Amino acid sequence: MRNGFFITFEGIDGSGKTTQSRLLATLLRDYGHDVIHTREPGGSDGAEDIRRLLVEGDAGRWSAETEILLFTAARRDHLERTIQPAIAAGKVVISDRFADSTRVYQGAARAELRSTVDQLHDLMIGREPDLTFIVDMDPETALTRGLARQSGEDRFEDMGLAFQIKLRAGFLDLAAQFPDRCHVINGDQSPASVSGEIQTVVEQWLS
Ligand code: TMP
Repeated sequence: MRNGFFITFEGIDGSGKTTQSRLLATLLRDYGHDVIHTREPGGSDGAEDIRRLLVEGDAGRWSAETEILLFTAARRDHLERTIQPAIAAGKVVISDRFADSTRVYQGAARAELRSTVDQLHDLMIGREPDLTFIVDMDPETALTRGLARQSGEDRFEDMGLAFQIKLRAGFLDLAAQFPDRCHVINGDQSPASVSGEIQTVVEQWLS
């Protein structure tokens, strides 16, 4: 059995990736893997503190440049304290978002800062997932669903539909840039159908 690997879920707000990442964690546990389900921003005590700064408050609270620094600081803590130790111990880490979100949200959709994002990533993170699922979905449906949750973490949803449309395009571009690890899954279908597609990819990859 393959041990110690890293899977990420990405997509626009309200795409259903959190549900899907939890379903995959359950499936892999059923297969006998030791699985850690985690998230970004967050996933360690320090990174969860930084999360609150990023997802709450006014849309204009931070510039895209400041966000890159905050998301990268949170990611570094998450990597040091949660992801790397778990992978080293042979566990499977499933993260609801990782560096691709910074590439798309801060590097492409909010501003054209992709090379800044890449430089900081190389300097401070230097790790890519083994497998990434991009849950693709109609932005209008996803935004309505995301806002209906009233989670109090709506800073990015508050940037509006045009922003979510740019994000979707950004994630599809990213999938084309990293075809070996990125799998685009159609999120505009039932949760069971989405998880079935994900299961097929994972089973192929594991074998
Ligand atoms: P979540 O709603 O999936 O938990 O993510 C929180 C928000 O943070 C979401 O709107 C996407 C945003 N985000 C970024 O803008 N850049 C990042 O690097 C990450 C990880 C999340």
